[in-house]
Amino acid sequence: MKHFINLKDIPASDLRKIVEDAKKRKIKREKFNTLDVDRDNPLKGKLLLQMFEKASSRTRLSFYLAIKQLGGGTITLKANELHMGEGGESLADTAKILSTYGDGFMLRTDSDKKIEEFSKHLSIPIINGLSPSSHPTQVLSDIFTVEEIKKKPISKLNICWIGDSNNMLNSLIAASVKFSFKLNIGCPKNYEPKKFVINWLKKNKRKINIYHDAKKAAINADVIFSDKVFSLNDKVNKAKKIKDFKKFKINSKLMSVAKKDAIFLHCLPRGSEVSDDIFFGKQSHVWQQALNRVHVQKSILLYCFGKLLR
Ligand code: CP
Ligand code: NVA
Repeated sequence: MKHFINLKDIPASDLRKIVEDAKKRKIKREKFNTLDVDRDNPLKGKLLLQMFEKASSRTRLSFYLAIKQLGGGTITLKANELHMGEGGESLADTAKILSTYGDGFMLRTDSDKKIEEFSKHLSIPIINGLSPSSHPTQVLSDIFTVEEIKKKPISKLNICWIGDSNNMLNSLIAASVKFSFKLNIGCPKNYEPKKFVINWLKKNKRKINIYHDAKKAAINADVIFSDKVFSLNDKVNKAKKIKDFKKFKINSKLMSVAKKDAIFLHCLPRGSEVSDDIFFGKQSHVWQQALNRVHVQKSILLYCFGKLLR
């Protein structure tokens, strides 16, 4: 079994294997109904436990469909209904119980430490379904979406991120190392990626380009990514942040400096960082991007359960 916590800690060859497996599986079930099980029924009888300490629409639904399509089932636990934390049961005991009843555990949490703690005490795989520092299942799925639309390995493309230096960007930076693609970042001053991310890049002898000018970052891009200016539970001065990000909106003027066939991607939910004409326009592939979460998470589950074919 394998945990899936941060892209930076997973070998590049394993990440590539997951993406390739998802490509094959997606094609094989083209004519299937939503809840039809894949022919090989690889996770028959397996139970995925899911727990969300923060809101989620896509991650919740896509993991539900992913495990169902692999032949297994899922149950969603409510964090506040478990005997966990203060006055309740220790995290270590909860982890043992989860391992007794379930076969895998998907957790969305406000605490990176909690995922690490769980991973030490679980004897079943844990999947990070978003933490303050990363959103690995989303970004791996986005690599899949880029290659599906562009019909090229992502290493041959110019990727651009316009927005906050948040969990999504941290995972995208990790992906830029694992999949060797060029990454330009456009963000206001004082919103650059955190030091631990830059240090990790240096350790891996890789560079990203950071611009405090959205246009400079977007020039010649094949893909423009963005995300909400305010992440879940962001505790910042909202008025100030909105003002700081004023010049970092994705609109037709910004898209016009990217390549003619550039695409726009966004993990959703969105705020006001993208104009409606771009979000609903031809260059936007956000719905396909959301759907692909199902396909890639299936291959992530297979990887975690030790069932990914070589
Ligand atoms: N993109 C994403 O993770 O969406 P949810 O917060 O709805 O799960
Ligand atoms: N950066 C966002 C991603 C939401 C899927 C957040 O953490 O809220």
